[in-house]
Amino acid sequence: MIAGNWKMFDGPDPIALRDALDGLDHVVAPPYVHLRACVQAGLTTYAQNVHWESEGAFTGEISAPMLLALGVEGAIVGHSERRQYFGETDTTVARRAEAALAAGLAVIACVGESWEERESNDTETVLRIQVEAIGDACGSHGRLVLAYEPVWAIGTGKTATPEMAEEAHAFIKSLLDAPVLYGGSVKPDNAQELLSRPSVDGALVGGASLDIDSFVALCRAGS
Ligand code: PGA
Repeated sequence: MIAGNWKMFDGPDPIALRDALDGLDHVVAPPYVHLRACVQAGLTTYAQNVHWESEGAFTGEISAPMLLALGVEGAIVGHSERRQYFGETDTTVARRAEAALAAGLAVIACVGESWEERESNDTETVLRIQVEAIGDACGSHGRLVLAYEPVWAIGTGKTATPEMAEEAHAFIKSLLDAPVLYGGSVKPDNAQELLSRPSVDGALVGGASLDIDSFVALCRAGS
């Protein structure tokens, strides 16, 4: 799976992207206001987050039934930017993932350590806590995918080496039986090497998913 997380960017024109993808497997996660256009263009569309309640007084949130009614197929939960800037915790991430799966959405649940945690040899401890919170809530659900995104590699141009990614992915899989995507500065020129590792099942791509040519190249590498 190659998933493009557009974050808070408008992203490419959905119809132009669909035409350029020409049937290649892909997922796009645009800002909420572009979900409908992506669905209507025939793109496999995920939201960037989802709440655990189906409706209620939760300003700024969106529910799984609302996303499903639009034709959205899945949601990202627990992205490190949500954890870092918006107070997302292992508990809220697990609740979001569990409710989304129960409602019928696919889920990409993100985990990953900071640079300080890696430097102090806490990578496995951090990953264990994050993955077990998700695993305890969801089990190994057929529509649950994890994404290993070392926080220090996101948007920085620093990529985990394929060996680092493989080691972290194998550890994550030892905790929960699920496909694991790698995320963090994935580009067409480093994708092949990362994707060739046995425990790397795809990529969650930020910056490089905003450009049609590079996203198509990544989807081609993934297929
Ligand atoms: P990046 O973002 O590819 O721009 O590093 C990855 C992500 O945050 O999913």
